[in-house]
Amino acid sequence: MRIKLMAANWKMYKTPDQTRDFFRDFLPLVSGHTRDEIVVCPPFLDLSAALEAAQGSKVAIGAQNVHWKEEGAFTGETSTIMLLAYGVTHVIIGHSERRQYFGETDDTVNLRLKTALEAGLTPICCVGEVLEEREAGSTDDVLRRQCTRAFHAISAKKAARLVIAYEPVWAIGTGKTATPEIAAEAHAVIRNEAGRAFGEDFAEKLRILYGGSVKPDNSSALMAQEEIDGALVGGASLDPKSFAAIVKY
Ligand code: PGA
Repeated sequence: MRIKLMAANWKMYKTPDQTRDFFRDFLPLVSGHTRDEIVVCPPFLDLSAALEAAQGSKVAIGAQNVHWKEEGAFTGETSTIMLLAYGVTHVIIGHSERRQYFGETDDTVNLRLKTALEAGLTPICCVGEVLEEREAGSTDDVLRRQCTRAFHAISAKKAARLVIAYEPVWAIGTGKTATPEIAAEAHAVIRNEAGRAFGEDFAEKLRILYGGSVKPDNSSALMAQEEIDGALVGGASLDPKSFAAIVKY
């Protein structure tokens, strides 16, 4: 049995005050909820407010990106050491918006992933096809390539904390959700790749989240799929009631 991970990706939304307001309203809604793990990933500047607000609760806090060097002349970047010093436990890596708009490649995803795992952070590594790739029938190839490149030169032992998020790019922020069956099929491809890279036992335990227009009204159908081990939620995670409803599906 894999414990589901319900993750909020706030992207570039909320100030520290809005972050505090969110936790004030959200925490009572999930206080008795022990079935799933919950993580909220706010923008860097809200991490401090989020960590303080979530203290003493079961809600973990994650970042949305991390650099692969511990320190150096890399203006605008943030390292694992900084995140760990704050008390951050999770980090999103290779989100499609970073791939699309900020030059993220399969190789930089691999570098970030390696570093995050070595530092003891729990990476949520995102993969997923764009619409043209799905329509051309190359979804499986894209997922295999993204996984192989992301997992390059990482041992099963090092990868123990790895979490993958399958996010079909055509479903992100569009209101179009992959059907539970489409998602489950993609998850099976990813699990198979993880099996090739890290062994069957590892693949069996690997958590693969689904992301892309997850809402309170589709969360339970998605989470009912055995292959789906949680959700990475963007838009619908900004509202405490809506994210709580998704978590409690
Ligand atoms: P969405 O975003 O839920 O707004 O579609 C998901 C994501 O990008 O992680």
